[in-house]
Amino acid sequence: MAKIIGGITSSHIPAIGNAIANRLFEEPYWKPFFDGYPPIRAWLQKEKPDVAINIYNDHGLGFFLDKMPTFAIGAATQYQNEDEGWGIPQLPPFLGDAKLSWHIIEGMVADEFDITSCQELAVDHGFTVPMQLLWPELSKDPNFPRTVPISANTVQHPIPTLKRAYDFGKALRRALQSYPENIKVVILGTGGLSHQLDGTRAGFINKNFDLMCLEKIVDDPEALTKISRHELVREAGAQGTEFLMWMMMRGALGEKVTSLHRNYHIPISNTAAGTLLLECAA
Ligand code: DHB
Ligand code: FE
Repeated sequence: MAKIIGGITSSHIPAIGNAIANRLFEEPYWKPFFDGYPPIRAWLQKEKPDVAINIYNDHGLGFFLDKMPTFAIGAATQYQNEDEGWGIPQLPPFLGDAKLSWHIIEGMVADEFDITSCQELAVDHGFTVPMQLLWPELSKDPNFPRTVPISANTVQHPIPTLKRAYDFGKALRRALQSYPENIKVVILGTGGLSHQLDGTRAGFINKNFDLMCLEKIVDDPEALTKISRHELVREAGAQGTEFLMWMMMRGALGEKVTSLHRNYHIPISNTAAGTLLLECAA
């Protein structure tokens, strides 16, 4: 069985990639954000997950408007990062776990989630920035995990509902629990919290809504499934729909989790950055 040890949420703002490249960790603007990560890195170094399932939303590198899967799962032995035009240095390829990917895909489809399987998938900042924040040495770290990328559509409406995202996570949990090998898995949910990058509300942030989400996702994620997509766009901003990734992650953790660490900082670039470490019940 694949043992799900916990879940981590992280912002994936491209500017973070540049701040890492320029080592701005102690700058007054960046310090309150980067200070949210050492406790999570310490937990990861203690727990040593074999695999990180990275639930992120592609922003146009892996998929574009011509073909937009609602849910896509990587099934490759490695995943390439490419230039998206943000000026972030490209990272070396990430090692996949194709056997686990195909097992998940089989399980999801049997569970009536019709996903897109990707034997080739370029991973963008939504995937790479959190990996760098959590394992700064990347593949030089002996504990650097293999990855399974899972992307959900937040670009082209209609996007999934919060309930569908949460149910996806539950099905992912069932698929992992039937995996024949004994491995430890951590689930990442990247993006968010509130932000809107374009239109008349560009720069929009909603602290009250973010704090409600940070609280409810721990002990009462079901309550969040009642939020409609229109309400989510209204309350979290057009790009705040990335909260769907958090709900997918949370669904995979099972009912009871313990919140071991939390950080919330506004703004980083145009976004409210929320960081959570949730541990699964033993
Ligand atoms: C920003 C946030 C995002 O989620 C993203 O994908 C790109 C940019 C930002 O705040 O700059
Ligand atoms: Fe984003």
